Amino acid sequence: RVNEEQGEVLKTERQGEDAALEYERASADEVLARERQARRRALAALLALERDRTDETLRSERERADRAINSRDEFLAIVSHDLRNLLGGMAMSAASLLSVQGTEATRDQVVREAQRIQRYTGRMNRLVDDLLDVVSMEAGQLSLVRRREETAELLRETLEVFQPLATAKGVSLHSELKAGSLLARCDHERILQVLANVVGNAVKFTPAGGSIDILIEPVEREVQFSIIDTGKGIEPEQLDIVFERFWQVVKPARAGVGLGLYLSKCIVEAHRGKLWATSEHGKGSTFVFTLPAASDNDSATNCEPPIG
Ligand SMILES: Nc1ncnc2c1ncn2[C@@H]1O[C@H](COP(=O)(O)OP(=O)(O)OP(=O)(O)O)[C@@H](O)[C@H]1O
Ligand SMILES: [Mg+2]
Repeated sequence: RVNEEQGEVLKTERQGEDAALEYERASADEVLARERQARRRALAALLALERDRTDETLRSERERADRAINSRDEFLAIVSHDLRNLLGGMAMSAASLLSVQGTEATRDQVVREAQRIQRYTGRMNRLVDDLLDVVSMEAGQLSLVRRREETAELLRETLEVFQPLATAKGVSLHSELKAGSLLARCDHERILQVLANVVGNAVKFTPAGGSIDILIEPVEREVQFSIIDTGKGIEPEQLDIVFERFWQVVKPARAGVGLGLYLSKCIVEAHRGKLWATSEHGKGSTFVFTLPAASDNDSATNCEPPIG
C-alpha cells in the first residue's frame, strides 16, 4: 500500500514536472520565435536601407559617368574646333605673307602676321601641354619637385606676366605679401602654372575698370594665396563644378577649353593644399589656395613620387 501511495506521488510529481517542462519549452519557443521575428524585421529594415543607399550610390555614379562622357565628347569637339581655328589663322597669315612677297608691302604687315603666327603657336602649345598634363595626372604620373620657395618670387614672376595684360585691359592689379618673407614648400613651375591660371582667369573675367587683388598670408602652418576680382562672379551652384574638367560657365564666350581650374586643383591637392572659390554673383569672385609652409629644417629639395 505504501508502495502504491509512493507510486502515486511519484506519478503526480512527474506529471507536474512534465507540465512545467512543457510550459517552459513552449514559452522558450515563443521567446525564440519573437526574437527571430524581431531579428527578421530589423534585417529587413537594414536591407531596405542598404538597398536605398546602393541605389543612391549607383544613381549618382551613373550621373557622374554620363556627365563625364558628355563633357568628354563636348571636349573633343571643342579641342578639335580650337586647333582647327588656330591652324586656320596661321594658314591665313602665311598666305598673306606670301601675297606680299615681291610687292611694296610694308614691314609692319610682315611683323603683324609673324606675331599672329607666334601667338597662335603659343596657344596651341598651351592646349597640348594642358592635355598632356591631364593625361599624366590621370595616369598618376605627374611628379613634383618640392623645394623651399620664397612666395615673393612666385608673386614677382606672376606679376611680370599679368601686370601688362591687366593694364592693357584697363583692370588694376594689386598685390600684398603679409609678411617680410614667406616660404612655401612647393614645386616652383607647377605653382606658377596654378597662379597663371587663377590670375589669368581673373584678368579674363574682369571687365575694364575692375580690379584684382592678390594676397599672400600665413594661416596656421600654411601659406594662403587669395585672388580677389571684381568681375562678373560665379553663381553659387557653379562654385564647385568650375573645378571639373572642361567645365565653362559661358560656352559661347569661350576663351580656353576649361582645363585650367581642374589642373590647378589637382596640382594644389598634390601638395596637400586646398583650392576653393567663393563668389557673390555680379560682384566678383575670390579663389583661394593653400600650400604647406616650409620650415627652416626642411631639406632644400626633395623629389616626390608621382601623384595618384
Ligand atoms: N575669376 C572668375 N570669374 C568668373 N568666372 C570664372 C573665374 N574663373 C573661372 N571662372 C569660370 O570657370 C570656368 C572654368 O575655368 P577654367 O580656368 O577651368 O577654364 P577656362 O579659363 O575657361 O579655360 P582654360 O583655363 O582651359 O584656358 C571658366 O570658363 C569661367 O566660366
Ligand atoms: Mg583658365
